[in-house]
Amino acid sequence: MAVRLHFLVLPLLICSTVAQQPPPSTGEKDDVRSLLEFKKGIRDDPSGLVLRSWNESSALEPDGCPSSWHGVMCEGNGVVVGVALDGLGLSGDLKFSTLVGMQSLRNLSLSGNNLTGRLVQRVGSMASLQHLDLSGNRFYGSVPESITDLRGLVYLNISRNGFTGGFPSGMMNLQQLRVLDVSQNGLRGDAGEIFSELRNVEHLDLSNNAFYGMLTMDTANLSSLASTAKTINVSYNKISGGLFTNATLPLFKNLEILDVNYNQLSGELPSFDALPNLRVLRAGNNQLFGPLQEGLFGSAIALLELDLSGNGFTGKLLQRYSVSLLSQNRLEPSLPIDSSFFY
Ligand SMILES: *[C@@H]1O[C@H](CO)[C@@H](O)[C@H](O)[C@H]1NC(C)=O
Ligand SMILES: *[C@@H]1O[C@H](CO)[C@@H](O)[C@H](O)[C@H]1NC(C)=O
Ligand SMILES: *[C@@H]1O[C@H](CO)[C@@H](O)[C@H](O)[C@H]1NC(C)=O
Ligand SMILES: *[C@@H]1O[C@H](CO)[C@@H](O)[C@H](O)[C@H]1NC(C)=O
Ligand SMILES: *[C@@H]1O[C@H](CO)[C@@H](O)[C@H](O)[C@H]1NC(C)=O
Repeated sequence: MAVRLHFLVLPLLICSTVAQQPPPSTGEKDDVRSLLEFKKGIRDDPSGLVLRSWNESSALEPDGCPSSWHGVMCEGNGVVVGVALDGLGLSGDLKFSTLVGMQSLRNLSLSGNNLTGRLVQRVGSMASLQHLDLSGNRFYGSVPESITDLRGLVYLNISRNGFTGGFPSGMMNLQQLRVLDVSQNGLRGDAGEIFSELRNVEHLDLSNNAFYGMLTMDTANLSSLASTAKTINVSYNKISGGLFTNATLPLFKNLEILDVNYNQLSGELPSFDALPNLRVLRAGNNQLFGPLQEGLFGSAIALLELDLSGNGFTGKLLQRYSVSLLSQNRLEPSLPIDSSFFY
């Protein structure tokens, strides 16, 4: 009899222990643990702001937040929504995998440090991310395709790092994306395809990489980007072919700055007549040619800066614009030129 009772009691004990466990937590403790793991990778913190304030004993306020931790933004219920550690001179190895569990993180801003590491595939599971700024560090490796799973992303800046490899396809998934800055890396990819995939982007910077391909795609491919883009910088790449076409250029109604300096563009310039907001055009050091006409930019356009230097343009000098920026072409200086145009 005694033996039988024993067997009855044990299952009851197990049942009651299980019932008293809290539901699995995805917030506070896990986020704090993730940050402490992240902290282990920081080798040097010149200001001491992070290493000093991010410690376990000061971790949790009554609301579950590590409120005294420098750069950590936390919502009342202990859920970390932002980590902003810009320009602190931090160096070390960022194990990105330590952060991927932070399911409520909206803002991760680490610009202007000396951090190294790879962007892991699982970055795509950080479903809440809206603002990701890794610019100005020493991150390297490829940009995983899973980055296009971050549907809420509004701002993506990975400029000034050592990222290499092909640019991920699937950017059309990122419909909220307004800013895409991948400049000054070693990225490759067909610029025409990237332009075709982008939706709603206002600020696009692909400069100083190894992008190639052409910008002469159909209006259907360009109409989405063209309707929102204000700034486009693809300078210092290997883009060839014409500078858009007479059919697609007028779609860029909001374009203010276009920089295609230092590529391999060829052909004649399309008419910029229909771009009322264009303030800066840099198309220097390509293989563009043809006559430059006074009417090229229409009379309504308040162009502040024009760089067409280092091309093969012919014809008469455009009186309205700086001569130095038109240098190294084959222009005839036959119009009377005001000395103020020589800078
Ligand atoms: C942890 O942080 C608290 C509050 O900022 C500080 O008083 C304490 O000295 C820190 N402990 C360590 C080990 O750094
Ligand atoms: C993210 O953090 C950076 C740096 O503190 C800040 O400039 C930016 O406004 C923040 N963005 C969002 C969406 O919270
Ligand atoms: C960046 O880190 C490397 C080694 O990790 C170090 O040699 C270099 O001095 C650091 N640079 C700065 C500006 O802290
Ligand atoms: C991206 O980051 C770099 C370096 O931190 C900064 O200079 C640049 O303005 C940023 N780009 C955008 C579009 O905000
Ligand atoms: C233009 O769009 C068509 C149809 O969506 C697509 O097949 C083609 O690859 C696109 N062209 C470029 C240069 O991306």
